[in-house]
Amino acid sequence: MNHIIPKDPATPDNKTAYDLMTILPHSAEVKEGRLWIGGLDMVELARETGTAVYVMDEDHLRAQLRDYHDWFARLDPSSEVIYAGKAFCSKAMLRLVAEEQCCLDVSSGGELAFAQAAGFPLSNVYVHGNNKTVDELRECLAAGVGHVVVDSFEELERLSRLAVEAQATQPILIRVTPGIEADTHDFIKTGAEDSKFGFGLNQGLALEAVKRALSLPGLDFEGVHMHIGSQIFALHSFKAAIDVMVDFIEQIHHETGAAVRILDTGGGLGVAYGVADEPSTIEEYAEVITGGIRTDCEARGLAVPRIAVEPGRSIVANAGVTLYTVGTIKEIPGIRTYVSVDGGMTDNIRTSLYGAHYEPVIANRADQPRSVTVTVAGKHCESGDIVVSDGPLQPAEVGDILCVCATGAYCQSMSSNYNKQVRPGVVWVSGGHWRWVVRRETYDDLLRCDVG
Ligand code: LLP
Repeated sequence: MNHIIPKDPATPDNKTAYDLMTILPHSAEVKEGRLWIGGLDMVELARETGTAVYVMDEDHLRAQLRDYHDWFARLDPSSEVIYAGKAFCSKAMLRLVAEEQCCLDVSSGGELAFAQAAGFPLSNVYVHGNNKTVDELRECLAAGVGHVVVDSFEELERLSRLAVEAQATQPILIRVTPGIEADTHDFIKTGAEDSKFGFGLNQGLALEAVKRALSLPGLDFEGVHMHIGSQIFALHSFKAAIDVMVDFIEQIHHETGAAVRILDTGGGLGVAYGVADEPSTIEEYAEVITGGIRTDCEARGLAVPRIAVEPGRSIVANAGVTLYTVGTIKEIPGIRTYVSVDGGMTDNIRTSLYGAHYEPVIANRADQPRSVTVTVAGKHCESGDIVVSDGPLQPAEVGDILCVCATGAYCQSMSSNYNKQVRPGVVWVSGGHWRWVVRRETYDDLLRCDVG
């Protein structure tokens, strides 16, 4: 989906909200000095909903899903796009995923419960996790999920036993760690040999897992899975991992005679959090994945398996922003200015956890240059409670509506109630209308589970 918005000729200094258009939702615009998204003035919206609040552009979400679906379908009609629900999971989102003909990756019983509550077709669900509990595996069998991605020898045995008990045959994939180091933050690398996830190739563990999967009752071995990490810019990392996986498919074929029907290459396509970031497009990614698998399989005389990908972040990240109200401003001469907002690490842990980069803009002065450098801090009892460290901003005033861009992925889904903070709600905007898809929590919500 192209997203080209002309710069405002009146402000060529590269520092206003106009220059953030590539990281803001597709419908973002600056009108009368204010930031608008989905045909709505963000300052007015903040007044109506209260802050902090997550705002997501529904049409942008749909466009990303459609882009993924259409590119993969065009390049390989049998391929599957599986939305990784951990990036942002709500019933409305899962309904959108189903409407756009994508499958779903869940990584806990809780996410599966959301899929069920949203009426998501359970045969299109892939279940992940390095330590799925016995209860979660039972829930998968009872729900009739389409695919379980098995992560350990214990899980193979456990799932086989439970499937036999339930008189079911569960289709499974084996998760493999291809030993490829993706070029990303250490905490979100997962494909390396030294990882808690999956079966390594080097000591023959992955092949042993496939052999067991083929021999155990109640299991239907359908393919292999990899996920090398997240926020990946270098597409050659995916190609390198695909080479390893197709070699492994050939080995499976030779040693067991079994066909590999699915090759799931996981998620990981990076997104732009800052204006200088230049991630690959969905089209480029789809070409590397489908072209790479096809070329490798043809070179080895193998049938091309069904290709599956599991994008999360690249579907939701840039569709969302967070709106806060500026509450206090502390200027420490010669050191730093702290602009404190009515949220923080409870609604966006990514800055403290990964040193993530975010761009802030004052929604009510969006056309003004971001001429000062400030640190946007949260309201929690931690010095590390920072949302933006040393970023450009318009000179802030108490009461301003501060918008942080590109917070659609892994912010609401990783939010917490630290300090007994209520989580913000999620508002979807489209065509000049807004609606809650997740309402803001109340103190009663917080107290409900405390039965002591
Ligand atoms: N598939 C599997 C098996 C995964 O573990 C993940 C993400 C995905 C797909 C989706 O990856 P994506 O396309 O979103 O990169 N909390 C971290 C990200 C953790 C990713 C965990 N797994 C962050 O905020 O950056």
